[in-house]
Amino acid sequence: MDATREAIRPTTATRGSILLVDDEEKILRALARALRDEGHDVVSVASARAARQHLAERSFDVFVVDNVMPEASGLELIRELVLSTPEGDRPQILMMTAHATVESAIEAMKLGAADYLQKPFEIDELLVHVRHAIEQQRIRPGYRYLISERDEEFNHYGVVARSKVMIEVLRRVERVAETKSTVLITGETGTGKELVARAIHDRSAQRTMPLIKVNCAAIPETLLESELFGHVRGAFTGATANKKGKFALADGGSIFLDEIGTMSQGLQAKLLRVLQEREFEPLGAERTEKVDVRVIAATNRDLRQMVADDRFQEDLFYRLNVIPIEIPPLRARPEDIPLLVEHFVQKHRQRIGKRIERVDPDALAALTGYGWPGNVRELENTLERAVVLSSGSSIAVADIIGLAPARAEHSALPSLRLHQNIEWVERETIRRALDASRGIKKDAAELMGISQRALSYYLAKYKID
Ligand SMILES: Nc1ncnc2c1ncn2[C@@H]1O[C@H](COP(=O)(O)OP(=O)(O)OP(=O)(O)O)[C@@H](O)[C@H]1O
Ligand SMILES: [Mg+2]
Repeated sequence: MDATREAIRPTTATRGSILLVDDEEKILRALARALRDEGHDVVSVASARAARQHLAERSFDVFVVDNVMPEASGLELIRELVLSTPEGDRPQILMMTAHATVESAIEAMKLGAADYLQKPFEIDELLVHVRHAIEQQRIRPGYRYLISERDEEFNHYGVVARSKVMIEVLRRVERVAETKSTVLITGETGTGKELVARAIHDRSAQRTMPLIKVNCAAIPETLLESELFGHVRGAFTGATANKKGKFALADGGSIFLDEIGTMSQGLQAKLLRVLQEREFEPLGAERTEKVDVRVIAATNRDLRQMVADDRFQEDLFYRLNVIPIEIPPLRARPEDIPLLVEHFVQKHRQRIGKRIERVDPDALAALTGYGWPGNVRELENTLERAVVLSSGSSIAVADIIGLAPARAEHSALPSLRLHQNIEWVERETIRRALDASRGIKKDAAELMGISQRALSYYLAKYKID
């Protein structure tokens, strides 16, 4: 990347949502791609009619519109927008115009457009203009980081995603859903492995059949075998009746083997057999049972390394790893954070019944700047707390608390704002948590997701009674 590109690469605070309208498809595509590469959320349409629809449905930070189009001119669209929408709710407007129509650009600016671009222009010129426009939008009085209906657009079977890497994951989900192949999902804790497993099942032809989950780590080894394959009466002490195993229950559907990396060597061999022969014997049974099940396994461990260390059977690894899906950690895809924030705020405000309408820009900056060692789960917990703690109609930076101290390798982006305000934030947070829990320390600590000892430390540090 050359120096000028680097210099204008926006920070998360200057990424925004853009509606781009141009009837020349080729130009439209090139501009949209360049804007997306900068991390913006771009809706591109080729007609005035489609533009009207989008403007009516949701809000944008910037509206970039070509002037000369068949159905209606850019100037007409701008006029409509200005007349129909109060300034506080309007996007910044940029008009693209050819030399011959510069007069309408001036007209547009009189109406309130931020600027215009004279065609032909360099793509970098557009990027700089858009960036300025977003900055203007962010500092506008009353700017709201809107909690919008965008969820639908970026929500694929419950998986909210926008980053390139996650869109790639979703493509793979779609492709594998059509098959019955075994899938191995890997990723750090809290990245969404179970969610992706469900998405695969829910998209598959077997979606009306069961998806059975087995957490291999949660069940003692001795019980796991009977849990998976079932047992007959008298197979062991306490086996007072026949019991169906999870494989039998999942017949015709899918079985989700979570934390497969914790499975004992003995069970690994038995699982291998099911994968190879599609058959097994319940504990203590003489008969063999056949099953038709798709296996989806997940782990946060490095199975390849475990194979190298002789802790995981190589054959089983290859049988499981037919279709690998690797979910990247959240810090590797910060573009997803604003969408996930909206998604979780919406989810929890509904649950709790609060009327939260926005996330303050400072708070969003703190969230996008953090390294998220606990990934999406940690983000969700943080936002759930924030929704509980927030006292107005917005989530403020002081509501964002309980973040685990970021380890150096985890922080993709510096969270300067957070550090600058950290003492204030801590004090304010504790004060509010104590308020919310009527001074009961145990509850306040729980609300903040810290230990009581940590709370005592903060109380002493800030001399709070
Ligand atoms: N892309 C996403 N969109 C919406 N919600 C998500 C996404 N990723 C994760 N979540 C949510 O985050 C939480 C954790 O996800 P999940 O349980 O699937 O993670 P996991 O990888 O299985 O974690 P673990 O390794 O700890 O079992 C869940 O509540 C899930 O719904
Ligand atoms: Mg899981």
